Amino acid sequence: MRCDRLAARLGVSELYIKDDSVNHPTLSYKDRVVSVAATRAVELGFNVLACASTGNLANSVAAHAARLGLECCVFIPDTLEAGKVLGSAIFNPTILTIAGTYDDVNRLCTQVADRYGWGFVNINLRSYYAEGAKTIGFEIVEQLGWRYPKHLVSPVAGGTLLPRIVRGLRELRQIGLVDGELPRVYAAQAAGCAPVVHALDTGLEHPEPVRPNTIAKSIAIGNPADGYQVIQSVKATGGRGAAVTDAEIVDAIRLLAETEGIFTEPAGGTTVAAAIDLIRRGAIPRDESIVVCVTGNGYKTAEVVADKLAAPVRLSRAFKDFEAWHESRVALA
Ligand SMILES: Cc1ncc(COP(=O)(O)O)c(C=O)c1O
Repeated sequence: MRCDRLAARLGVSELYIKDDSVNHPTLSYKDRVVSVAATRAVELGFNVLACASTGNLANSVAAHAARLGLECCVFIPDTLEAGKVLGSAIFNPTILTIAGTYDDVNRLCTQVADRYGWGFVNINLRSYYAEGAKTIGFEIVEQLGWRYPKHLVSPVAGGTLLPRIVRGLRELRQIGLVDGELPRVYAAQAAGCAPVVHALDTGLEHPEPVRPNTIAKSIAIGNPADGYQVIQSVKATGGRGAAVTDAEIVDAIRLLAETEGIFTEPAGGTTVAAAIDLIRRGAIPRDESIVVCVTGNGYKTAEVVADKLAAPVRLSRAFKDFEAWHESRVALA
């Protein structure tokens, strides 16, 4: 989506949102990766589809398993938002909430996959899962009229998405569907969980694990499986990292909604806030094309904005009450 109203607020000339907040069927980028992994799980004969998840992945795995008639078991930390848990429960999988962080959940699931041979989309099916993420890169080029943008901002959690966007962009050039230079790709993380940004800033090849502390729970992964690939990809394109505070994330969620009618969750607030930060610092020039990936939906994480929004105006059914309210508003203006 070309976003001229948001662009005007940020003082840039050409800004696009790649909007996966309305990706189907479960309203996040995870439907891309699960689609491929679930298809492969069926081909390989797995009976149980499973995942270690920060929420969105569990929603998507549960929906795909329902559609395919597979048994489903999703593992999540016990601190997720109610909307994320409900978004899995509706498909009636077995949900295991684990006392610990996502990184604890992931470690447990690695052991389960080894012992029980279930099809974990992001563990023993991870190579297929990762392929699905390339489609964001394919679509960006196609939707821009078969050209690359100059700059691209991607969120980073486990690190599947960002390197596969870059791979998708490269593959289209290899087969002759686009030419020119790859965009500079920027890794966006919440300051309360920014192992990759920290590694980029300090020149580490592998991120140092951290203990997450942020409202951006979907991207709160302290020990990213593909952190090394993210760092290599960002460096290869001449990009960098940007870490943003929880307050900046909430402000960015609201700004995107108020200017463009897109309601995202904290992962999308993180990329928008990172873009704002990179533009302000001069890392992204104001007169070049920018794509910001928005990867999840705000209805699942209502609690992060609920107490910050204007309350509805309460009126009786009487027309005179409406008139009185309208007059007081005109007087105030
Ligand atoms: C909405 C959303 N965006 C981005 C990510 C990060 O993706 P990745 O783990 O591929 O870095 C996740 C999940 O981890 C997510 O749920």
